[in-house]
Amino acid sequence: MRRIGIIGSGKVGCSAATFLLTEADEIVLYDIVPKLPFGEALDLQNAAEALGLNVEVKGTNDISLLHGLDIVIVTAGFGRTPGMSRMDLLNRNLPIIEEIAKEYGGGRDRETVFIIVTNPVDVLTYVFWKRSGVERHRVAGLSGILDSSRLKTIMRMSRGIRISGLCSFVLGEHGENMVILRDRMREEYGLSDTDLDMVLSETVKAAAEIISMKGATVHGPGASIARMVEAVLSDKGEVLPASAVLDGEYGIKDVCLGVPVKAGREGFKVVQEKLSENEVNMLKKAAESIITVLEQIGCRK
Ligand code: LAC
Repeated sequence: MRRIGIIGSGKVGCSAATFLLTEADEIVLYDIVPKLPFGEALDLQNAAEALGLNVEVKGTNDISLLHGLDIVIVTAGFGRTPGMSRMDLLNRNLPIIEEIAKEYGGGRDRETVFIIVTNPVDVLTYVFWKRSGVERHRVAGLSGILDSSRLKTIMRMSRGIRISGLCSFVLGEHGENMVILRDRMREEYGLSDTDLDMVLSETVKAAAEIISMKGATVHGPGASIARMVEAVLSDKGEVLPASAVLDGEYGIKDVCLGVPVKAGREGFKVVQEKLSENEVNMLKKAAESIITVLEQIGCRK
C-alpha cells in the first residue's frame, strides 16, 4: 500500500495530489477549512475514475487521521503575493508549521517520510525537524527539483538546450541565495560567465514572474512534489536536489539547505558530491543567511 497524506488542500496540495493519482493507493487530503478537502477529494476521486485509476482519495478536517502513512506532504500556509519574497512569509507560516510539527512529535510516525513545501522552505523544514523530533533523514524540503525545472525551462526557451534527467544543478537556498553549479553547467553546456549570471538571475526570479501573471505557482511545485514522492516510493536510490538537514556535510552543520540527497523509503540521505571550492563557499554563504533567521526565531542557538 502506498499511502500519502497532504496537509493543506490549497492549489499546490491539490496539484500534487493530481500528479500523484498514478503513484498512490490512497491519498488523504487535510485542511482546516471546512468542506474544502472533502470537495477536492471528491473531485480528484472523479478524476481518478475518469482515468481508470484504482486510488482512493479522502478529505478530512481531522489531522489525527494523518498518521501511519508512507509520506506526509506539508503544503499548509500562506503563499506569496506579487512583490513578496519567500522570507516575507515567515511570521505567518512559522506558527502553522510549529503546530503541525507538534502533531508529529509523539514518535508514532517513525516510518513516515515528510516533505515540507511551505515557505520559507529551508527555514521551515529545519523548524519542522527540530520541533517534531523526527529522524533527520526522514524530512526534506521541496527546492532543487523545482528550481532545476525552472533552469531547464529557461535553457530550453532562451537557448534551445534541452536538459533531461534529475540533475542537481540548483542547490543552496530556495530563494535569493540559490546556488547554481556553475562549473558543471559551463562544462556540460558551454555557457559563458555572462550566460551563467543571466540563467541564475532568471531562475531566482522564475516563481515571481509566474506569480505576477497568475497569482501563484501551482503545477511546477505540484509536479516537483510528485517527483520527490516517486523517488521515495520507488526506492531506487535516485539522487535529487532537496533541502535537507545538514550535519557537517560540505562543512555545514545544523541548518537546512538544498543539497543532493539519495531518496528512498527511508527518506533522504545527504550525498557528499565533489564541488569546487567556490561552490562550497556559495553554499556556506546561503547557510549563513538561513542560520541568521533560525537564530532570530529562537530555533537554533
Ligand atoms: C515556488 C514556491 C513553491 O518556488 O516556493 O514556486
